[in-house]
Amino acid sequence: MNTRFLRNQIAKLLAFLLILTGAAACAQDAVGASVSFDATNKMFRLDGGSVTYAFGINNRGELQFAYWGERLAASDTLPEPRGIGFSDEINDAPQEFPGWGGGTLDEPALKATFPDGNRDLVLHYVSHTISGNSLGVTLRDISRDIFVNLKYTMDPATGILARSATIENKTNTKVLLEQVAAASWNLAAGTDYSMRYLAGRWGGEFQLESEKIEPGEIVLESRRGSTGHQSSPWFAIERGAATETDGKVWFGALAWSGSWRITVEQDPLRQVRITGGFNPFDFGYQLAPGESLETPVFYAGFTTTGFGEASRLMHRYELANILPQAPKPRLRPVLYNSWEATTFDVDEKGQELLAEKASSIGVERFVMDDGWFGQRKNDHAGLGDWYVNPQKFPHGLGSLIDKVHSLGMDFGLWVEPEMVNPDSDLYRKHPDWVINMTGRPRTEDRNQLVLNLARPEVRSYVFEVLDRLLSENKISFLKWDLNRVWSEPGWPEVAPEEQKRLYVSYIRNYYSILQELRAKHPKLEIESCAGGGGRVDLGVLHFADEVWTSDNTDPFDRLLIQDGFTYAYTPGVMMAWVTDSPNWYNQRATSLAYRFLSSMQGSLGIGANLNNWTAEDFATAKQMISAYKSIEEVVQHGALYRLVTPRDGSNISATESVAPDKASAVAFVFLHSQQMRYPVPSIFLLGLDRNAIYSVRPIFGHLSGDAPQTASGAFWMGHGIDADLKGDYDAAAFIFERVSK
Ligand code: GLA
Repeated sequence: MNTRFLRNQIAKLLAFLLILTGAAACAQDAVGASVSFDATNKMFRLDGGSVTYAFGINNRGELQFAYWGERLAASDTLPEPRGIGFSDEINDAPQEFPGWGGGTLDEPALKATFPDGNRDLVLHYVSHTISGNSLGVTLRDISRDIFVNLKYTMDPATGILARSATIENKTNTKVLLEQVAAASWNLAAGTDYSMRYLAGRWGGEFQLESEKIEPGEIVLESRRGSTGHQSSPWFAIERGAATETDGKVWFGALAWSGSWRITVEQDPLRQVRITGGFNPFDFGYQLAPGESLETPVFYAGFTTTGFGEASRLMHRYELANILPQAPKPRLRPVLYNSWEATTFDVDEKGQELLAEKASSIGVERFVMDDGWFGQRKNDHAGLGDWYVNPQKFPHGLGSLIDKVHSLGMDFGLWVEPEMVNPDSDLYRKHPDWVINMTGRPRTEDRNQLVLNLARPEVRSYVFEVLDRLLSENKISFLKWDLNRVWSEPGWPEVAPEEQKRLYVSYIRNYYSILQELRAKHPKLEIESCAGGGGRVDLGVLHFADEVWTSDNTDPFDRLLIQDGFTYAYTPGVMMAWVTDSPNWYNQRATSLAYRFLSSMQGSLGIGANLNNWTAEDFATAKQMISAYKSIEEVVQHGALYRLVTPRDGSNISATESVAPDKASAVAFVFLHSQQMRYPVPSIFLLGLDRNAIYSVRPIFGHLSGDAPQTASGAFWMGHGIDADLKGDYDAAAFIFERVSK
C-alpha cells in the first residue's frame, strides 16, 4: 500500500466520521476554515465558507494556481501541478506571484531592476508555515537574495481570502521595485467570462459597468494619488451568465487608498488572471539592503449564487473583519450636517439654531461642516490653519458643543487636513510642504495644494493639530475630507531616486495618523470623504467607520449610486443625506418622504436647511427618523437583496434588507415615472424563512387594497407585494415581522 493511497483512505474515513457526527455536510454547507499542505502532490489548500482555493509547487519550483471555486470534499486530492510551456510564451504557467523574468509575458506581480542592470526575476518556492487559518509561503529569486513572503488568510465564515506580499531585499545592493502587486488571482482557462466593475466621476460615483473578457487586458486604476471617483478598486467576474441570484461569481477588492491598479487579462491559452496592487504607473520604490516593502491586502471570494450573494459576502466580511469596530460595529447614529444649509457661512448662533431643530426630529449627531476655521469664508483661503475662527465662534467651539450635548446629540466636525490654500498662514510659513516639482507651476484645484504627508514634519503637524482639536474639545466624530487629486507629484527634499516613494509613504502616513488618533481618542469615529465618494476602499475602511457616498444628494440619482456602491461595500457605511428640494445638483423636485426613503437604505443623515422647513416637514421627518431607528440594524447589518435594479432605465427599483436571524425585513419600492397609469409590477421578496408567518406594515405608502396583513415567507417571496404607487418619484417602504415560525 503506498502512502498516498493510505492518506486518501484516512481522509475518506475522517470525512465519513465528520458526517456521522453532523459536523460536516455537503461542500456547500461546509463551515469553518482549514489550511493544509499535501507534501506528496506539493499542493496547498485553503478551505473556508463554501470555497476551496488551491495552488501547488510545479516541476520548475514555481507556485502554480490549481483551483478556486466551490468547496471540495475534504477527501478530494488535487493533482500535482505541471509547469506549462507552450504557445508563444516560454512560460505560460498560471503563477501565484510571477516575477518578470524567465520568459513570462503575462502581467507580473513583481518587476525589479538591480543596480547592475539585471532585470530578470524568477521566483521559486523556498518554505512555508501554516498557522490557524493563515498560510505563509516564502519565495526567492533563483540567484539573488530577493525574497517574497506571501500571506494568505482564509475567512471561515465567507470563504473570502486575504492575500498580500512582503518583498525583502537581502542582497547587499539597492534594488528598484517597479511593479508590485498584492496578489495575482487565476481562473481556470475559458472564453465565457465577463466582468463587472464600478466607474464614475464626481457626482456620479459607483456606476456598474460590464465587459466581456476577451484576449488582452482590461485596466482599472487610479493615477491620482488617492482612490478616486473614476474607478473603485473592486471587480466581479462571472462565468456564463450569472444573475443577481444565480451563477458563478469571483469577486475581490483591494485595500489601498492611493494610486492603485487592477488588471484582468486573458492570455493566449485563454487563462484569465487578475493582478492588483500599487499602480505601476510612475512607480519606483527603492529597497535598501535589509529593507522590505509590504503590499496592501487584496481580498477575494467566490460564490455559485450570483452577484447578490457576492455582495452579501463582502458586506458580512467588511462588518466582521475590516471596519475599525469589527466584528461588532456600532450602528451609525442619525446625523445632521450643515453643509448644504449654510455652505461656508457657519457661526455659533446659526449652528445652535440648526442644532435645536435637528434634535427636535430625533437626530443623534450634529456635524458642523466646512467654514469654521482660519480665514475660511469661501474655498479661496484658510485650509491649513486649523484654529477656530474667532469672529464666527467668539467662545471657541466649547459653547456650541455644550449646547449640542445639552440637546442630547454628540458633536462632529469637518476637516480637510491634507490640504492647504496658498492663502493661509501655513503656506506662507512652509511653502515647501506641498507636493511639487522644483521650478514647475503648482497646479491648483479648488484653490488648494496637497501637503506632502510623506514628510515627517508634515505628518507631525497634521497629527498634532488634530490631536489638539480633539483633546481640547469634546468631538466624537471627524468628517475627514480630501477635495483634489495630486498633480506634479514630486518630493524635492529627497534624492531623485527616492521621490516616487511618495505613492506609498504618503498613504502609510495617512493611515498611521488615523490609527494613532483613534488609539489616543478611543471614542472617536471617522467618516472618509473625498469631494463625495472619492476615497472609498477597504484600506481606509480599516480606520473609517463610514464614508460619504457622493456630493450628488438627489434622491433619484442616489438610487443608482447606492445600487452600484452596494456591489462592493456594505450599506452599513453608506452615508445618505436627506437634503432640500429642488436638489442643488440637478434641480429635481421630490417629496420629503421620497427623499427619506431613498436615504433610509443606508446610514441616514439629514443635510437640509431646517430653517426653511414647515411644521409638516418636521412632523414627516420625525416620523421617518423614528421608523428608521426601528429598522437601522436590519439595514446596516442585515442581508441586502437588490430586488429590482434602477439600472438599465428601469421604471421601478426595490431593495430589501433581512435581519441575520430572518425575524424581520424591510423592503423599499420606488416608482420613477409612470405612464398610462400602468400598475407597478409585483415585487418578490427574497431571503425570508419560507415556513414562517410574517406580518406586514408600511413605513410609508400602502400595498394595494386586497393584500393580506400576514402571510408566510413563501407567500411574500412567491406571490410578492403590490405597492400602490402613482405618478413620478413615488415611493413606499414596508416592514415584515415574523409572528410565528
Ligand atoms: C466636499 C464634501 C462636501 C462638503 C464640502 C465642504 O465637497 O464632499 O460634503 O464637506 O467638501 O467644502
